[in-house]
Amino acid sequence: MNLAIIGTGYVGLTTGTCFAEVGHNVVCVDNNAAKVESLRQGKMPIYEPDLEDLIVSNVSAGRLEFTTDLASAVKKCDIVFIAVPTPPNEDGSVDLSYIEAVSHEIADVLKPEYGYRIVVDKSTVPVSTGSKVSQVIERYAAPGVEVDVVSNPEFLREGSAVGDLMNPDRVVIGADSQRAMDMMKRVYQPFNAPIVEVDLHSAELIKHAANSFLALKISYINAVSAVCEKAGADVELVAKGIGMDKRISRHFLNAGLGYGGSCFPKDVKGFIHISEQLGAPLELLKEVERINAGQMERFLERVREKLWVLRNKKVAVWGLAFKQNTDDVRESVAIKIIKRLCEEGAIVSAYDPKARETAARDLQGYELTYCDDMYECTRDAEVLIVATEWKQFANANLMKVRELMHLPIIFDGRNIIHGENAVHAGFEYHSIGRKSLYPSRD
Ligand code: UDX
Repeated sequence: MNLAIIGTGYVGLTTGTCFAEVGHNVVCVDNNAAKVESLRQGKMPIYEPDLEDLIVSNVSAGRLEFTTDLASAVKKCDIVFIAVPTPPNEDGSVDLSYIEAVSHEIADVLKPEYGYRIVVDKSTVPVSTGSKVSQVIERYAAPGVEVDVVSNPEFLREGSAVGDLMNPDRVVIGADSQRAMDMMKRVYQPFNAPIVEVDLHSAELIKHAANSFLALKISYINAVSAVCEKAGADVELVAKGIGMDKRISRHFLNAGLGYGGSCFPKDVKGFIHISEQLGAPLELLKEVERINAGQMERFLERVREKLWVLRNKKVAVWGLAFKQNTDDVRESVAIKIIKRLCEEGAIVSAYDPKARETAARDLQGYELTYCDDMYECTRDAEVLIVATEWKQFANANLMKVRELMHLPIIFDGRNIIHGENAVHAGFEYHSIGRKSLYPSRD
C-alpha cells in the first residue's frame, strides 16, 4: 500500500521504516528540510538500535523516501498518518497545534479526484481529538473530498522500537467506518499481530489509559520501596513475589528513581487534564505523579545524609539518558539529579554510552565534566550514583572502580548492581527499597 507519514520524530520515523520493511511504499514527510536532507543521506537524528540499517536497506530497495513535499505525498498515498509532536502545555493540557496545522494542510491539498483517503492519528492525543481533525478536514477541504479519520495509537518503547513495531502485543485501530477499518487491517496484515477493532474515541483513550496504568505500576512499586526501606524488607523480592501472579505480572515493577521520558510524564498529565475537563477527574493519577517526584527527592536526601554537605564533594554519575538503549534525555531523572547536585555545589562528572551530546544541550549553564569512559568518570569520586539502567553498569568491574574512587560508596538508583559483588569489592552499597550493605570490618 502507499502510505504517507507526516512527522519524522521518534514515532513517525520508526513506524514509517517498519511499514516499508513489511513491503509498503512509504513517504515520510517533514517540514524540516535539513532533517529530510540528512535522512536522505542516511544520517540518523536519533539513536535507536537497528533503525539505521533498516532505513538504509529500505531506501535502497525503493520502498522508503523522505520529502518536505506534503502535497505530493497526500496525492499519491491512500493513507496519511499524522505523527507530529503533542507536547504538554504549562497547565498539563496537550498542545494540539501541530495536529491542527497538519490536518489543515492535508485538507488544503486534498482533491476529490484523488479518491478516498484515510487520515490516521498516530500521535498520542486526548480523547475526541479525532473528531476535531474530522471537523478541520470537513471545513477546509474542497467539496466532494471523501475522508475518514482513524486513531491508531503507537505503543513502541524507545530503545526497543524496531522490535516492538515488528512484533506488537496488539494493534489498536479506532475507526467509525467499516471501509476505513478494512483498509487499516490490510496495512497491519503483514505483522500477524492481534488487532483490537474499536471506535475512534475508545482507541484514543486506550493510549492514555495504557501509559498511565504503566506509570501507576511503577509508582506503586516505588511507593512499596519506601515502605520496604523503613521496614527492612527487600523490594526486589516483593516484586518477584507479587509479579508471579499472572494478573499482576513482573513487568514494569522495577523500583528505581521513577519514570521519565517523553511519554509517561506527559501522558499522565494529559490524562489527568482531559479527565478533569470531562468532569470525571482521575485523582489517582495525581498520587502517581507525587510518588514519582518523591522518589528522586528521597534518594537525594539519602545521598546528602551520607556525604553530609554536598558542596565541593566529587560525585560520579553513571547515566544521563532517561533509560537504557537511547540517547533521549527528555524528562530524564538522571539530568534532574545532576542539576540538583550542581546547584548544591557538588563537583560532578558524568558518563553515558549514548546520551552525552543530548545531555550537554539540556545541561547548558551547568558546570560538570563529561567522561568518555565509565571508569575514568569515577576517578577520585566520593560517591558513585547509578542513574540509568544501562547493562554495562550492571556488568562493571567494581574492583577497578574501587581502585579509582576516593571513598567506596555506591548509590544505585536503578537496583542493577549486584550488591554482594559491590560489598566484596569493598563498597558500601545503597539502593532503592533494600537494606544498605556494608563491607565487613575484618
Ligand atoms: C513508554 C511506553 O512503554 C510505550 O508503550 C509508549 O509507546 C511510550 O512510553 P518509553 O517512554 O520509551 O515507552 O519507555 P519505557 O520503557 O516504558 O520506560 C519509561 C520510564 O519508566 C523510564 O524512565 C524507565 O526507567 C522507567 N521504568 C520502566 C521504571 O522505573 N521501572 C520499570 O519497571 C519500567
